[in-house]
Amino acid sequence: MTTQNPSSADGKGKSQAVGRGSFGGKLGIVLATAGSAVGLGNVWRFPYMMGENGGAAFLFIYMLFVFLLGVPAMVAEFVVGRHGQSSAVRAYSRISGNKAWGMVGMMGNVASTVILGFYAVVAGWCLNYLWCAICGTINVGTSEAAQYFSSFSSDMSSPVGWAMVFLLITHSVVSAGVEKGIERAAKSLMPILIMLLLVLVVASCMLPGAMQGVEFMLRPDFSKVTSRTLLDAMGQAFFSLSLGTACLCTYASYFKRDTNLVTTSREIALLDTGIAILSGLIIFPAAAAVGVNADSGPGLIFITLPAVFQQAFSPTVGYVASIMFYALLSLAALTSTISMHEITTSYIHERFSLPRRSAAWAVTVVCMVLAMLSSLSCGAMRIELAGMSFLDFSDFVTGQFLLPLGGMLTCICVGWFVDTKLVQDEFTNGGAVCRRLFPWWLFLIRFVCPVCIAAIFLHQFGLL
Ligand code: PHE
Repeated sequence: MTTQNPSSADGKGKSQAVGRGSFGGKLGIVLATAGSAVGLGNVWRFPYMMGENGGAAFLFIYMLFVFLLGVPAMVAEFVVGRHGQSSAVRAYSRISGNKAWGMVGMMGNVASTVILGFYAVVAGWCLNYLWCAICGTINVGTSEAAQYFSSFSSDMSSPVGWAMVFLLITHSVVSAGVEKGIERAAKSLMPILIMLLLVLVVASCMLPGAMQGVEFMLRPDFSKVTSRTLLDAMGQAFFSLSLGTACLCTYASYFKRDTNLVTTSREIALLDTGIAILSGLIIFPAAAAVGVNADSGPGLIFITLPAVFQQAFSPTVGYVASIMFYALLSLAALTSTISMHEITTSYIHERFSLPRRSAAWAVTVVCMVLAMLSSLSCGAMRIELAGMSFLDFSDFVTGQFLLPLGGMLTCICVGWFVDTKLVQDEFTNGGAVCRRLFPWWLFLIRFVCPVCIAAIFLHQFGLL
């Protein structure tokens, strides 16, 4: 593995750079960051969250949160990471000059490990669907698809096996350090994914009865908005942008001095939101056409899509399109799981001076146990916490609480506990870019983000 850190070229962070993984260069690391953001959160989680929260009103609130809270918080994480030039725990301590803030980085490590635990299960479902698509057995009618999904996901062994396969693939990429290959692949795969999504949007919207789904997606009914909708939309925004975990902070430690943090985060947010909207425009029209309820939960895409491939295309085109779709989705999931795995691996490697491979194994084994519990909780066994299956609980606790909390603490740390001159210097690349935006952004991270996130939490607990 090459251990050259692009940022070490300007002399910063040499000691931390050694062995912390490598990225090909400015374009590579920005792409890897986009790859972390785009994943199952867009294609799997967004449509089912939106379906459970009544459609267009959720979309509207979600977008508001992405651009009002998500983008400023992302820039704040980038500031911490690029300044810190190390893994997240050290970066937070370093920028604030106070070890206690390292806790935010630690929380991020915990959150991303827990997320990886259940994310691998859903990614394993994708791998299984890819395999079935190759075998030509998956493009079936809706009732068979629903039946198949429920018997497959509640099976004792098969989904656990696929989750383990996915974790082992992630493990081998992270421990062998072949991120460069992944970045190169991501560069050409992202446009193909977007094109395929566009084709599927058209195919789905042309199904008879699909317009009801388009309406569900685009005509807001704000009377359905509850405090839970706000919490879910905020959680989804943070989850989808990989915010509040240590991921963005760690990746930003590899950014170059001249990477524009503001335009980078804006572009990532636009790409991420665009892909989520395209996914919604595939799922809801198709669900309306084939008679699947929008609020069918985590199985929504797995129940709806097989019928689209079967009904909207000729058998051969449907066969090829389904293989391409599940393959691209699995790869998009892989670029996200790599980011979750990488940051905790690099933290353990740095903090306990363990070889990278051993650090990677420690993360993989913990995630395997979590993934097994999550997978079995989908029906094979009763593994519940707070009245939810272990998978739903891990998803809820991280997405709806830990990530927004991490984002809020990052904003408070950067907004109030770091020298403003230093922050301005990172934000503007030493006065070269976005100088006029700085006061606005500072206002957002000092007041708007923390107050909004705290208010949503308090409202959810019935305290406001
Ligand atoms: N943002 C990723 C997705 O949308 C998931 C993720 C969450 C990745 C947290 C890293 C950290 O799929």
